Amino acid sequence: MSANSEKDIPVNIYRPANPFTAKCISNDVLVRPGAVGDTRHVKIDISGGDLRYLEGQSIGVVPPGEDKNGKPNKLRLYSIASTRLGDDLDGKTLSLSVKRLEYQNEAGETIKGVCSNFLTDLKPGEEVKLTGPVGKEMLLPDDPNATIIMIATGTGIAPFRAFLWRMFKEQHPDYQFKGLAWLFFGVPTDTTVLYKPDLEWMAYKHKRHFRYDVAISREQKNANGEKMYIQNRMAEYADELWELLQKPTTHTYMCGLRGMEDGISEFMTKTAAKSDVVWKDFEKQLKKDGRWHVETY
Ligand code: FAD
Ligand code: A2P
Repeated sequence: MSANSEKDIPVNIYRPANPFTAKCISNDVLVRPGAVGDTRHVKIDISGGDLRYLEGQSIGVVPPGEDKNGKPNKLRLYSIASTRLGDDLDGKTLSLSVKRLEYQNEAGETIKGVCSNFLTDLKPGEEVKLTGPVGKEMLLPDDPNATIIMIATGTGIAPFRAFLWRMFKEQHPDYQFKGLAWLFFGVPTDTTVLYKPDLEWMAYKHKRHFRYDVAISREQKNANGEKMYIQNRMAEYADELWELLQKPTTHTYMCGLRGMEDGISEFMTKTAAKSDVVWKDFEKQLKKDGRWHVETY
């Protein structure tokens, strides 16, 4: 049986009525000085229970306290950023990449997102209630020769960190990645390129198997002199990407801002049309074949 076969995918080991109480091990700032916003790498101890997960799955976090109607706060989902082995390679931890949500409402008040602020403020030793894991959309194929195209904006990098760590940082007797992994990563500024040193190290060390292209929206411009969005960066490689998409061993994954879906779709529509292909039909077929994976929020 292969590692990711249906039977082996853990789902809903812990449900909201009976969550697993885990403990924060560490909470590290992921952005660099001068960055707008606050994103954290939160490592959580999941030992002592039955929780396990695969790369590409998400976990539910139940924040403490009540909502404005006096009901217990509901869970929020977070993509798991670590491999099934966890960052300490002992299968006892799980890590998340969490962006603190803070915005001004119409009255000019600062509103803080409930769960993201709970997580980004979490201190080592403090408890966190988890549910899940959930998700079968973003699993990696078992094929170590596959082409894996990853399209991430912001914290959408989380599942791809898990993929890349499994491919290039860990050693597995049954999974030695020899295909092509190609990451497109969209962030606002250079200081917000999450996991930058690791990504650059992998791109250097594993040149033959890992390509890495960033789109820095507030510091780079596209060919029309507008903000460099991820779809603009991809457009620079349109022909090559289109050719890769024709291969039955190519899987494409998109994760992060829901807003990027339209831009990617527009880019794909134009690219497909050059070969007289209707993107919507092609995309439908890719989805049917389990080769087009989207998780946006
Ligand atoms: P809440 O208290 O729930 O507030 C959010 C609400 O605030 C929104 O629904 C909206 O109504 C309102 N709002 C937000 N921004 C504005 C604005 N600018 N103006 C006006 N109103 C606004 N997040 C991560 O950080 N990392 C991840 O890896 C991650 N993975 C996810 C995976 C999945 C499958 C899904 C579905 C979501 C994921 N999220 C991730 C998002 C996460 O679940 C939460 O939605 C996010 O952290 C905000 O939750 P919160 O409790 O802090 O905010
Ligand atoms: P910007 O905010 O400059 O408009 P983060 O979650 O850290 O803010 O990163 C999200 C990244 O995705 C930012 O660079 C953001 O650009 C960019 N972005 C925002 N809207 C879109 C969109 N519609 N298509 C592609 N990228 C987008």
